[in-house]
Amino acid sequence: MAKPLKVGLAGLGTVGTAVVQLLQHGRDKLAMRCGRPIEIAAVSARSRGKKRDIDLKAIRWIADPVALAADPAIDVLVEVIGGAGDPARRAVETALAAGKPVVTANKALLASHGHKLALLAERRGVALNFEASVAGGIPIVKTLREGLNGNTFTRIYGILNGTCNYILSRMEEDRLAFGDCLREAQRLGYAEADPSFDVEGHDTAQKLSILASLAFGTRVDPGAIYVEGISSITLADLDAAAELGYRVKLLGVAVRTEAGIEQRVHPTMVRRGSAIAQVMGVTNAVTIDAERLSPITLVGPGAGGMATASAVVSDLADIARGVRTAPFGRPAARMAAVRKAPMQHHEGGYYIRLLARDRPGSAATIARRLAQQQISLESIVQRHEIGAGGAVQHGRSGEAVPVILITYATSEDAVRKALAAVRRDRVISGRPQVIRIEKN
Ligand SMILES: NC(=O)c1ccc[n+]([C@@H]2O[C@H](COP(=O)([O-])OP(=O)(O)OC[C@H]3O[C@@H](n4cnc5c(N)ncnc54)[C@H](OP(=O)(O)O)[C@@H]3O)[C@@H](O)[C@H]2O)c1
Repeated sequence: MAKPLKVGLAGLGTVGTAVVQLLQHGRDKLAMRCGRPIEIAAVSARSRGKKRDIDLKAIRWIADPVALAADPAIDVLVEVIGGAGDPARRAVETALAAGKPVVTANKALLASHGHKLALLAERRGVALNFEASVAGGIPIVKTLREGLNGNTFTRIYGILNGTCNYILSRMEEDRLAFGDCLREAQRLGYAEADPSFDVEGHDTAQKLSILASLAFGTRVDPGAIYVEGISSITLADLDAAAELGYRVKLLGVAVRTEAGIEQRVHPTMVRRGSAIAQVMGVTNAVTIDAERLSPITLVGPGAGGMATASAVVSDLADIARGVRTAPFGRPAARMAAVRKAPMQHHEGGYYIRLLARDRPGSAATIARRLAQQQISLESIVQRHEIGAGGAVQHGRSGEAVPVILITYATSEDAVRKALAAVRRDRVISGRPQVIRIEKN
């Protein structure tokens, strides 16, 4: 059999440990499929003494991940340390500059430096594979980069953060408040001690920036993404969504429009019968819309050691076989800066929940402000509290009454202007809740 592919593994945490287990467990099958064995030659992590669930006795320890990347006994670097900065960045750059292929699961690194790293990899004629960086075990990178090579993409959208999907699913299924679900997610290890990166949408934005580059050939640019998280979503919104035939999901959406590429992350109403609406819990999903092709939805585990290791090992198998594709599926030098479609130009339906002051003229004022912005309404629901015995209780004059509006397609700009005017008119209490409706 041909000589083995010698792997230098930087990072022995959740993902790194699972990579070791998967490579050891599947050794013979992989060797048969790739025509050569894949062997871990050396590893690196922060603390050598840490107890880990793997046998590293026969494997060299190199304390510094950058030295690991430069080590002449290593054919390929697997970087599963994480973070956009050093040592992950310098280890990856060192390996590529030395003409060694790299496999990474590091979305933060790719979101910040993806284009530069792709240029370096191509200059040195080596692979930079990052299947694990988006949606863990779902082979979405390969699908966009290779499986759908002949297609023109129009829109990519997905559930890319398991923590947020878990929280929204639990809220809906068990009628719990956002804060309770978040605390439970933290207890179960689905959410970090500081959950803001996940729940405020930034994790989804990093992943979306990578998908948008693969789909539209633009340079990775998370700064071009409009980001809103799920912390303002209430049970009232989920209930209203259900009644209206929708479900609320945190989506990352990238769309090709006349004005440029629109990239946004926000809570989204999706049709309850759609494929993406069925995805509950920590599971991820991505839907691909392309010209002359019915939508494709891939669903699967978006995180976890084994799911992520599965993607890492598949990237390694390509390298072992000698398969190399440009990291973003086209020459990096030909990738243009994103022409960003301004969020104000976004067009679609909107769900708006207002607390209207229950006094004469409130409804008429709201209707007038919407009409001034040419916003037409598909439905209006005014809610009243249900008292003992099921009797409808009208608020005392001056009390706020929840009003739910669903608009026909309109622009973000029109909605923002109309709601700013309604607030100035003092006919509502508090901030209006706005959730965009995604056609699907
Ligand atoms: N976990 C997932 O489900 C998942 C899913 C998709 C993608 N990813 C990505 O995969 C990467 C790794 O994630 P993870 O969850 O496995 O992280 P993790 O459990 O925190 O592991 C990080 C590893 O890197 C090592 N490390 C940290 N700083 C280091 C340094 N300065 N020098 C050398 N080694 C250092 C740590 O060493 P010690 O063990 O000695 O502390 C640890 O082994 C990240 O980019 C993440 O975004 C993770």
